[in-house]
Amino acid sequence: MKLKGKHVLVTGGAGFIGSYLVDRLAMEEPASLVVVDSFFLGREENLTRARKLYPELKLFRMDASNVASMLQLVLAEKIEVVFDLAVVPLPTSLDFPTWTIETNIGIASTFCELARRGYIQTLIHCSSSEAYGSAVHIPMDEEHPLIPCTPYAASKAACDHIVLSYWETYNIDAVIVRPFNNFGPRQNPGSYAGIVPIVVRHILNGTPIEIFGDGKQTRDFVFVQDTAEAMVRIYEEEKSRGQVINIASGRETSVNELVVYLTSVMGVREHPVIYSPARPGDVRRHCGDVNRLHTLTGYHVRTVSPETLAETVDWYRSVMS
Ligand SMILES: NC(=O)c1ccc[n+]([C@@H]2O[C@H](COP(=O)([O-])OP(=O)(O)OC[C@H]3O[C@@H](n4cnc5c(N)ncnc54)[C@H](O)[C@@H]3O)[C@@H](O)[C@H]2O)c1
Repeated sequence: MKLKGKHVLVTGGAGFIGSYLVDRLAMEEPASLVVVDSFFLGREENLTRARKLYPELKLFRMDASNVASMLQLVLAEKIEVVFDLAVVPLPTSLDFPTWTIETNIGIASTFCELARRGYIQTLIHCSSSEAYGSAVHIPMDEEHPLIPCTPYAASKAACDHIVLSYWETYNIDAVIVRPFNNFGPRQNPGSYAGIVPIVVRHILNGTPIEIFGDGKQTRDFVFVQDTAEAMVRIYEEEKSRGQVINIASGRETSVNELVVYLTSVMGVREHPVIYSPARPGDVRRHCGDVNRLHTLTGYHVRTVSPETLAETVDWYRSVMS
């Protein structure tokens, strides 16, 4: 399966992972490349590179959970393939659980419906490792139980069940990709920021790094550009349909280790760290099983390393200074 000559839509394409996916898709020479983003957290600047690579890129500020407007858009733009990444993220879900649940489930069910009614050919739905909850075994394969710990995680797990139920019941052409913790340039450093931008900001500002819990909690960090690459390869592999596929490195890194790596990459010898009580819903261990991804695509993603962290930090230096 090739994307060349196809009409492709990316929801959440002005966001962190979505914008890297749009960059990557531009190289596939699709017939058209369309982004829908509500700009709840997305930024138009994230699409600067994509616009250079693909000047005909179309960007619509719309709510991807609105089935009527998505139907109109899909018909008008003759969309065939949808990469569905739009999301209300985890930290927001702690403040606005109902809105998060309604929006995230609304987005997934909208594109399932459009696939069921034959308006789109293929749906690549983006899940999250958060759907698993804390690891009950390591590494976490795709059969690991879903025990979500936050409203966000519950909404992601629910979306996955919805997509798989449409695949099972209506035979829609769909696949679920399940990335673990992404890091890299363009990750929102403002409200509802993730761990890497928060730590980098404290180091740049000379303020203490606040770690929730003992810092021994682990994550499987994935370099964002590699997640985009993996998504394209999974689309290309027809055997992926009807499956859930982890996008992970298979390596566990604790938050304490991450802080040490970042201070070292940023040339800081010692930086004050304060430990606060663990946040509700924080998962303890995460490490993805990468067998399915490797068997299907032969692709290995990068995790934290001096090179990937340096590229990340350089970007934050450029936008935060
Ligand atoms: N960042 C990670 O570490 C990570 C890990 C696993 C899975 N994921 C998944 O990857 C996908 C992308 O996440 P991200 O980290 O790039 O998040 P992000 O917040 O940077 O991007 C999500 C985008 O969706 C947009 N959006 C929100 N609600 C919308 C709506 N109703 N209609 C249209 N657009 C809307 C936001 O404005 C934003 O640009 C999500 O599905 C997320 O669950 C992310």
